[in-house]
Amino acid sequence: MSEIQKVSVIGAGTMGNGIAQVFAQAGLTVTLVDAFEASLEKGIATIRGSLARLVKKGTFQQAEADAIAARIKPSPRLLDAAEADLVVEAVPENFEMKAELFQKLSASTEKRTLLASNTSSISITRLAAKSDRPDRVIGMHFMNPVPVMKLVEIIRGQLTSDATTATIVETTKRLGKVPVLANDYPGFVSNRVLMPMINEAICCVMEGVAEKEAIDEVMKLGMGHPMGPLTLADLIGLDTCLFIMEVLHRDLGDDKYRPCPLLRRMVAAGLLGRKSGRGFYDYTPAAS
Ligand code: 3HC
Repeated sequence: MSEIQKVSVIGAGTMGNGIAQVFAQAGLTVTLVDAFEASLEKGIATIRGSLARLVKKGTFQQAEADAIAARIKPSPRLLDAAEADLVVEAVPENFEMKAELFQKLSASTEKRTLLASNTSSISITRLAAKSDRPDRVIGMHFMNPVPVMKLVEIIRGQLTSDATTATIVETTKRLGKVPVLANDYPGFVSNRVLMPMINEAICCVMEGVAEKEAIDEVMKLGMGHPMGPLTLADLIGLDTCLFIMEVLHRDLGDDKYRPCPLLRRMVAAGLLGRKSGRGFYDYTPAAS
């Protein structure tokens, strides 16, 4: 089993910056790549904010937070990701974009480099087929917010080797996370179970079963969920929720996964949740 020391994370968005942070916290060297300078800057600022929170909480001292931040090298160039033992991609959920990335990484990285995807529902087997090393491609599905959530769902593609799986399971443990294995079926386990619940909660809003706050309260106080499904949808991003429902609907071919029309309408209106400032709830400064 190979030891992972250097990691590249592609995509500095919500998931990518959190993934870079947890690798750096575990002492690994990280190159964080994003073609958009503004995303890169925002990603680094988010990491600094998260580390400051952990210092305030007493998890570690300021000097340690500085050392963690220094282990993360931001870059707008994909070629800077090449010298890594492991590349984790966290670019938007778009098959063509991810497929092109896997082709480029196949050309630029050494053959021994492991390629992982943080995809929430795209088939690992299909992505692996775009690379030159399907035995070294695997799903590493982190949960949002990455610095807090313990789970990493590890998804084996059809041709993922036992050695690759063992290395990624071990690396996940080094991050202080808990790896759980799943096979490559639409939505894996997490989103196969979570998203239909969120979708159903949105249908409850659409049908006027209850007010949105009431739906969230029922699930929080009645079922012990840390946040209600509509608040969680806003955290995940309504566009991501819709994308995952579309994958489940299309790839499982069952109408029970039909995306709620209200979800489609909100995404069309740009009401994407926290990242756009409004979703089911209002996150704009004026609202607080
Ligand atoms: N960085 C570092 N620490 C953070 C943080 C961040 N970005 N965000 C929160 N924290 C820490 C806080 O410091 C706090 O720590 P403490 O309890 O030790 O003091 C702890 O997390 C809890 O934070 P808060 O007190 O601010 O807020 P809550 O108690 O409401 O918890 C939550 C926030 C952890 C997000 C909790 O509400 C929760 O677990 N929600 C559910 C999240 C969830 O379901 N995520 C999975 C989404 S699905 C997914 O990601 C898959 C994808 O494919 C769609």
